[in-house]
Amino acid sequence: MTDISPQTAAGKVLLHFAMSLDGFVAGPGHSMDFLSRATNRPGLVQEYVETTGAILAGRAGFDSAIGDSRPYGGAWQGPIFVLTHHPEDAMPTPDITFLSCPVQEAVGIALEAAGGKNVEVFSPTIGRQLLQLGLVDELDLHVVPVLLGDGIRLYDAPGGEPVHLRRDDAEPTRTVSLRYRPDGGAPDCAGG
Ligand SMILES: NC(=O)c1ccc[n+]([C@@H]2O[C@H](COP(=O)([O-])OP(=O)(O)OC[C@H]3O[C@@H](n4cnc5c(N)ncnc54)[C@H](OP(=O)(O)O)[C@@H]3O)[C@@H](O)[C@H]2O)c1
Repeated sequence: MTDISPQTAAGKVLLHFAMSLDGFVAGPGHSMDFLSRATNRPGLVQEYVETTGAILAGRAGFDSAIGDSRPYGGAWQGPIFVLTHHPEDAMPTPDITFLSCPVQEAVGIALEAAGGKNVEVFSPTIGRQLLQLGLVDELDLHVVPVLLGDGIRLYDAPGGEPVHLRRDDAEPTRTVSLRYRPDGGAPDCAGG
């Protein structure tokens, strides 16, 4: 059973994240442990392997997560661009291009390299900048059943204006109802 239609390749700029219910895409210290109990809808990885033409990431994501590993467990291959103000001290990596340019230029370079497929933005910081510039076509989010309470937010813009979104279905402004129960129980009380 799936709750949404499969991803399509259409030269889109996508923010694609697994996110905790309270809006974090990584825990403190860039921890991704919150994904360990999560399951994906069937075929999700294959959808993204087929529809992604290029990836645009930020330097923190490269240093903490991408490094030697590759998206989708190595099943996807293609150009990866990493935006940084300091390309000179990045670990040289053969298939990764470090960019130091305005974010709109970086996304243009990634779109060109994607050859008509989608550009996936793997950075909430870059995603925020692109949203504020009106350069995001879609947010594709997978809500993981966990509350983190701390970490890196999907959209961190204190004092900023709300960014209104439309759901990709027949009722674009309808709220989504989610019902959960705590899984794991309360910690034992110490002492008597
Ligand atoms: N849950 C998920 O599905 C998912 C997916 C992808 C990533 N993530 C996580 O997201 C986290 C990274 O996100 P983040 O937003 O904190 O960091 P980030 O965007 O990866 O890195 C921030 C850095 O990117 C560079 N940067 C950003 N905008 C720039 C610009 N306009 N010009 C030049 N350089 C720019 C800067 O690097 P310099 O300081 O070098 O200048 C900045 O310090 C990681 O923990 C990663 O694992 C989660």
